[in-house]
Amino acid sequence: MNNIPKINQADPIPEAARSDIENLLSTGDLFRYTNYNSAVFTLEQNFANKIGAPYALAVSSCSAALFLALKTLSLPANAKVLIPAFTFGAVPSAVVHANCIPVLCECGTDYRIDLDDFLIKLQLVDAVLISHMRGHTSDMDKILSQCEKLGVPVIEDAAHSLGTTWRGKNIGTFGRLGCFSFQSYKLLNSGEGGMLITDDPDCFAKAVVMSGAYEHNWEKHHGERHFFEKWQNQLPLYNMRLNNLSALIVDSQIPYLDERIENGRRNHDIAAKILSHSEWIHVPEKFEHEARAPDSIQFNLVGLTPLEVSQFCDLINRMGVALQVFGNSKDNARAFWNWGFLPERYSLPKTREMLMNACDVRLPARLNVDDCKNIAEMILEALSQIKNNIAAE
Ligand SMILES: Cc1ncc(COP(=O)(O)O)c(C=O)c1O
Repeated sequence: MNNIPKINQADPIPEAARSDIENLLSTGDLFRYTNYNSAVFTLEQNFANKIGAPYALAVSSCSAALFLALKTLSLPANAKVLIPAFTFGAVPSAVVHANCIPVLCECGTDYRIDLDDFLIKLQLVDAVLISHMRGHTSDMDKILSQCEKLGVPVIEDAAHSLGTTWRGKNIGTFGRLGCFSFQSYKLLNSGEGGMLITDDPDCFAKAVVMSGAYEHNWEKHHGERHFFEKWQNQLPLYNMRLNNLSALIVDSQIPYLDERIENGRRNHDIAAKILSHSEWIHVPEKFEHEARAPDSIQFNLVGLTPLEVSQFCDLINRMGVALQVFGNSKDNARAFWNWGFLPERYSLPKTREMLMNACDVRLPARLNVDDCKNIAEMILEALSQIKNNIAAE
């Protein structure tokens, strides 16, 4: 029962990419602006077509995309930006980097934005940055309609949501700008990398210039000339470009994306079904309008003491399943109380309670049905040992 694959390992890069990579290495043309129609440019076009966005800009990470997205809004210094309290530490960091102040919004046991807290805090902010954490989509109908009413711009952090749809439309395409990650634990992996998408030509031109399109390099982007000319030399160059090698690696995986989404969803649903049978586990349902593309599963422990939660974590990891409870370790980057760089401390009891019981296990698309069943059954076995006091130290 213990021969489960290493779930924290990334997927191999497709064989088909190897000859293009070899060619690129032989020319040394790694910089996107050496030539027109570079590998980065091609990736941007392919990604934009796949996701349904008019403009796409490849950058060095999703954090860079979030930072640039915020900068395109031309917010005043110390502008307030609402973010969910359940997200990765890089998200409030991008807000701070953009010289803004993060305002944390409560999240519920379903990992999504708590709409009551959202409506209160929305009155106080200049922009909203929605992290669809671990691909759990917050209610975009309500968020967008409220933001539109108040004229508050929305950025989507879709780092974990590539391939997720809401009413059939891709997540990331709802806000003024959407941001994606190509870090290794994502559906498209180049180790590091990111993509910014938008349907706003002015924001796009700003992002292109700030990402490092110095002089006339904006000519090597798809976009409208007068917007680029307007921003040329008027904005700082933050140099957050993607290189051609990373672009080739990501691009070679786009043809596999649909299959990965399908397998990831299958894996998630198999594990969710088995885990739901336990009285000590609650697996939140997806939203009606959401079609998810998960490569991990989250579930809540129910009726365990904090000591039992810790014991369960230790035991399941000893059994070989890499599981984290977000709030259980001292320095978890998804626990908001560890973000010591925030200008303000938050208590946020709902989110804290959720994080103390929410489990997270990677289920990469390459796992097969038996792998996923094994993982779920081992989780149930570990829980049963803890609850029945028979876990060996
Ligand atoms: C929710 C979320 N947003 C943004 C990021 C930042 O992504 P990157 O590592 O590409 O900067 C991460 C990182 O995993 C993340 O988990």
